[in-house]
Amino acid sequence: MTIDLGAFPRDFLWGTATAAYQIEGAAAEDGRSPSIWDTYSHTPGKVAGGDHGDVACDHYHRWEEDIELMRRLGTNAYRLSVAWPRVVPGGTGEVNAKGLDFYDRLIDALLAAGITPSVTLYHWDLPQVLQDRGGWPERDTALAFASYAGVVAERLGDRVKMWTTLNEPLCSAWIGHLEGLMAPGLTDLTAAVRASYHLLLGHGLAVRAVRAAVPDAKVGIVNNLAWVEPATDRPEDVAAARRMDGHSNRWWLDPVHGRGFPEDMREVYGVELPERAGDLAAMAEPLDWLGLNYYFPSVVEDDPTGPAPRARAVRRPGLPRTGMDWEVDAHGIERLLLRLTEDYGARRLYITENGSAYPDVVGPDGTVDDPERTAYLEEHLAACASAVRKGVPLAGYFAWSLLDNFEWAYGYEKRFGLVHVDYATQRRTIKGSGHRYAELIRAHREPTV
Ligand code: FCB
Repeated sequence: MTIDLGAFPRDFLWGTATAAYQIEGAAAEDGRSPSIWDTYSHTPGKVAGGDHGDVACDHYHRWEEDIELMRRLGTNAYRLSVAWPRVVPGGTGEVNAKGLDFYDRLIDALLAAGITPSVTLYHWDLPQVLQDRGGWPERDTALAFASYAGVVAERLGDRVKMWTTLNEPLCSAWIGHLEGLMAPGLTDLTAAVRASYHLLLGHGLAVRAVRAAVPDAKVGIVNNLAWVEPATDRPEDVAAARRMDGHSNRWWLDPVHGRGFPEDMREVYGVELPERAGDLAAMAEPLDWLGLNYYFPSVVEDDPTGPAPRARAVRRPGLPRTGMDWEVDAHGIERLLLRLTEDYGARRLYITENGSAYPDVVGPDGTVDDPERTAYLEEHLAACASAVRKGVPLAGYFAWSLLDNFEWAYGYEKRFGLVHVDYATQRRTIKGSGHRYAELIRAHREPTV
């Protein structure tokens, strides 16, 4: 498929993304304390195959090899997350020098390879000690997050300029506290709404902490927004789509844009927010950029007796699906980029994650042929290019993921990498899609006249 690569600016960031718990392993090494994901994954029945992140991709020991892979792909950026339980094992207070040293070495090596690091401060691995004190439903967790953010920014901020506070707070709050399908595994609407509030508060306070430590930091937040459409034009489905939009999008975007929490959703949840004077101002601290993680669109219908937001996804026949059973439809990525630009006035956007899982295997010739992932990548990049032609200020694209990794509740069964990982040997093999990504990056960098 031809992609209008010329649409992307010359200094476009071509990256890959990962998250600490999904790749690092070394769960009990060098002073790291358990996170809620260690607890959750070691609880029988929570994660497919009983998998956990104890070893994962062993990136904690193989990071040099992994940077070499990035170099081979030709990427000029890398989105990683820092593990809070490595850096501040007690959640608050004492800093673990060995934990910070790991990221320090990693950042130096990335820069030496010509790869711009983009650091996410929270990709779901809350120190378990803070969960034991109530976790995100409690205000203190937001304060602890801001002080940990300051510690990391102080240490890495001379070299790292692109900072993300939270990855997909929606998943932490709604999937972790309402649906119970991610750590900490609660199904409690009040806890979920309180968690959402404190996540956004923690975000705002962390923005301030990062800027205090790194005056020239470019700070953003990463959301997985949903392109929502009603399944039919029945008024019930249209209203359900509106609720789903509130639940997945407006609840997360409005407070950050100084619009407060959407009234209609306050009513849907019916949970009192733990509001205090000054909180909304913190949540609305102006940002330098917004990150969009996009995987699939959501076509929904009314679910009158279901949990909040009383809307459920419907299956659309005839659309291709990934190994996650997620619909492949690149239309949503373009629509969401346009919406962030038009409705929220975004001036700088990144696709901070986009990708697909398929059950890849290494062939007898040692290669991994993954044409579906290649097609997914191409379609979504083409949709991004089209959005840019319509005026969207897209400054970079980070493919999810560099490596096959621990896919949360799905364990190691779902492979999202541009690079295949054989977990028995830890051997890495660049997949066909990875080679295609490298080719596209090269073509953008050196356009032929
Ligand atoms: C996103 C997560 C990321 C990865 C992808 C598939 O929701 O941010 O860690 O699991 O989904």
